Amino acid sequence: HTPAPDGARGLRFTPVAPNVADQVTVPAGYSQHVVIRWGEPILRGAPAFDPDRQTAKAQAGQFGYNNDFLSLLPLKSERGRQVLVANHEYTDEILMFKGYSAAAPTREQVEIAWAAHGLSVVVVEEDRGSGKLTAVTRHQLNRRLTATSEFRLTGPAAGSALLRTSADRTGTKVLGTLNNCAGGTTPWGTTLHGEENFNQYFANASSTTDLRYGIGTGATERKWELFDKRFDVKQEPNEPHRFGWVVELDPYDPESTPRKRTALGRFKHEAAQPRLTADGRPVVYMGDDERFDYFYKFVSSKRMRKGGSRADHAYNLTLLDEGTLYVAKLTGDSPAGEFDGTGKLPADGEFDGSGVWIPLATGDVSHVPGMTAEEVYVFTRLAGDKVGATKMDRPEDVEPSPRTGRVYIALTNNTDRGKAGKAGADEANPRNANKHGQILELAENWDDPAGDGFAWRLFLVAGDPKDPATYFAGFPKDKVSPISCPDNVAFDPHGNLWISTDGNALGTHDGLFGVATQGERRGELKQFLTMPNGAETCGPIVQDRRVLVAVQHPGEIDGATVEKPASAWPDGPGRIVRPSVVAVWRKDGRDIGV
Ligand code: FEO
Ligand code: CA
Ligand code: CA
Ligand code: CA
Repeated sequence: HTPAPDGARGLRFTPVAPNVADQVTVPAGYSQHVVIRWGEPILRGAPAFDPDRQTAKAQAGQFGYNNDFLSLLPLKSERGRQVLVANHEYTDEILMFKGYSAAAPTREQVEIAWAAHGLSVVVVEEDRGSGKLTAVTRHQLNRRLTATSEFRLTGPAAGSALLRTSADRTGTKVLGTLNNCAGGTTPWGTTLHGEENFNQYFANASSTTDLRYGIGTGATERKWELFDKRFDVKQEPNEPHRFGWVVELDPYDPESTPRKRTALGRFKHEAAQPRLTADGRPVVYMGDDERFDYFYKFVSSKRMRKGGSRADHAYNLTLLDEGTLYVAKLTGDSPAGEFDGTGKLPADGEFDGSGVWIPLATGDVSHVPGMTAEEVYVFTRLAGDKVGATKMDRPEDVEPSPRTGRVYIALTNNTDRGKAGKAGADEANPRNANKHGQILELAENWDDPAGDGFAWRLFLVAGDPKDPATYFAGFPKDKVSPISCPDNVAFDPHGNLWISTDGNALGTHDGLFGVATQGERRGELKQFLTMPNGAETCGPIVQDRRVLVAVQHPGEIDGATVEKPASAWPDGPGRIVRPSVVAVWRKDGRDIGV
């Protein structure tokens, strides 16, 4: 009998060393398996995956590409089963199709890509003896939503002239969701999905608003505009306005039309993480993942109904349509002159300060001079510019601690910080040419999520702990794992923060980490797993007995193709590389990290 490794409760595992192995590496004493892969059939009638004979029709009934956010919801009526919801952020055609020509994609390839985007709902069954989960194919709740499924725009900007197109004179009916990155799970049993880098699907932009959102002035890389004119801004100028929203899906109602919630604003939504105020109103925190972009929250004016009746549920599906949208402005408490961009701690020993939530719009009322409420919702970035919001180092996922209420925001990196003509270092973003990112901890005033002010401090300044410009909440740095580019965040049942990374700039693979946020081990960061070649870690879920991660874009390395893959994951050499969901559990059947 070997003694359990040291650590905070929930984090008692032997850390995985940084590595470049082409596999998912888990701690000693843990097992893993693939829950579901790209292309596995989930709907009735969908065929088995055959990469050499793939069709759009097949893909529309199969698990999509590049799984990102994951949510597991209870399925109380069916013992041992849960509902898995997954985002399929984007497609990587060169790794999907043999002989793919970027210059001349075929219609079938483009339509397969449309069907490989979007969301999946798939019921999964627990194995009694392990942490394994297996997909229940053809379950009545299983569902695919793609780039061509119907979505409804709701809330204060729905129907606006800015959202009408030649195909939809009502400005309320959109085909498709695109680039769903991270998301959140609501207390009323729905899931939220951020539409992130939607700009890449649209061609031929010229307006200042489209340019502020990064839509290109020429052809797109995927060339969808040649197959559907709505992707050509010159022909359909308002179509891009119908992407960049937070989608709300009701996974328990397979007939429901998912909603795009305009009250939550339009930007490159990384995620959307809800919590409730003391009087039951939902608050949703949201990052805009772009260098020098902003951090937001939405506060509903309506209280969640907890009765559980059909009418209560229908009411709860309107909570995110009425309220106030805010953007964050942060002020450091140390003199600005102490921030020279090197990341050196200020004299008071902490990167910290206070902040205000600046209201942008409430229902039909704009709080931004010179912009209507509809303009605030559709061009939210411009509203943030006007009110002087704080330019952050790429705000990604966010998670409030269920124990303390403090909110953790991953700021993934910003290599442009301090460049000529760009904002320089400040107390919340203290490093120029920031390659490794940081995690900010925010405490709402009076612990009220609906409040208009907050205190903040940096919890982690990521990188190699040997680098003096790193910080692990004051924990001794010789006892922590290196980490770079924090992206998705989640809490475990013990109140530890789990962090997945995207783009590790330390020369090793991305991975998943756990860190205590309270007590004397606060800041003790430990690596739990690492990714195969080219992959990013997404969608972490940490349950008592199981950790779930989405292995996104395995093998995505410059020059790789289907014929010349850069990874053999998950099925070994000679088999096509497939983004997949992985479950990890303890071999002895006990809880994770105890
Ligand atoms: Fe899709 Fe910001 O990660
Ligand atoms: Ca300070
Ligand atoms: Ca992400
Ligand atoms: Ca999260």
